[in-house]
Amino acid sequence: MSLQLGDTAPDFTAETTEGKINFYEFLGNSWGVLFSHPADYTPVCTTELGRTASLKKEFEKRNVKVLAVSVDPLDKHFSWRKDIDETQHVTVDFPIIADEEKKVANLYGMMHPNASATATVRSLFIIGPDKKIKLMIVYPASTGRNFNEVLRVIDSLQLTSDFSVATPADWKAGEDVIVVPSISTEDAIKKFPKGVKVVKPYLRYTPQPNLN
Ligand code: BEZ
Repeated sequence: MSLQLGDTAPDFTAETTEGKINFYEFLGNSWGVLFSHPADYTPVCTTELGRTASLKKEFEKRNVKVLAVSVDPLDKHFSWRKDIDETQHVTVDFPIIADEEKKVANLYGMMHPNASATATVRSLFIIGPDKKIKLMIVYPASTGRNFNEVLRVIDSLQLTSDFSVATPADWKAGEDVIVVPSISTEDAIKKFPKGVKVVKPYLRYTPQPNLN
């Protein structure tokens, strides 16, 4: 059966551009982003890995470790990485897994045979410090992912894991959030001293609780 939200992220050991890595040891107590792309030396993937490298500080700020998966061999990763650095004006220093045997790809359901028999699709998993899968997205080869959205989702996941809130459509860090339905308005008023705006009994907003 394929992986679902809330499942424990499968552990693995793999060769990467940063040496042999055990996934759980690599993550430690951090959050993790594990993402696949179809192949080395492809244009969209070049921009995706470059964009990820350019967001290094944003991932670090959020205590997130990033790991890419590619079914190409290590020597190809090393030479392609030079192109990414050159064309995207970055230094790619997060690990790229050499998953020639598709061990990780199969473990995480990154092969979608009706899309491609040989290449992984663009799967992305966000994994919490408890090693549970918090989010999965799957894009086709032809569409590069929006990494601002990945950061936005991480902000929401981290906030909603700490407070009894949910984030509305198109929410961005700093904007008002929604009080979860399981909390009564009376309790919400006590819990959220910045105030609770009741639009409907089931639709209640409060300022983002972890901001000064
Ligand atoms: C790319 O990464 O550029 C790509 C890969 C497979 C199909 C189309 C685009």
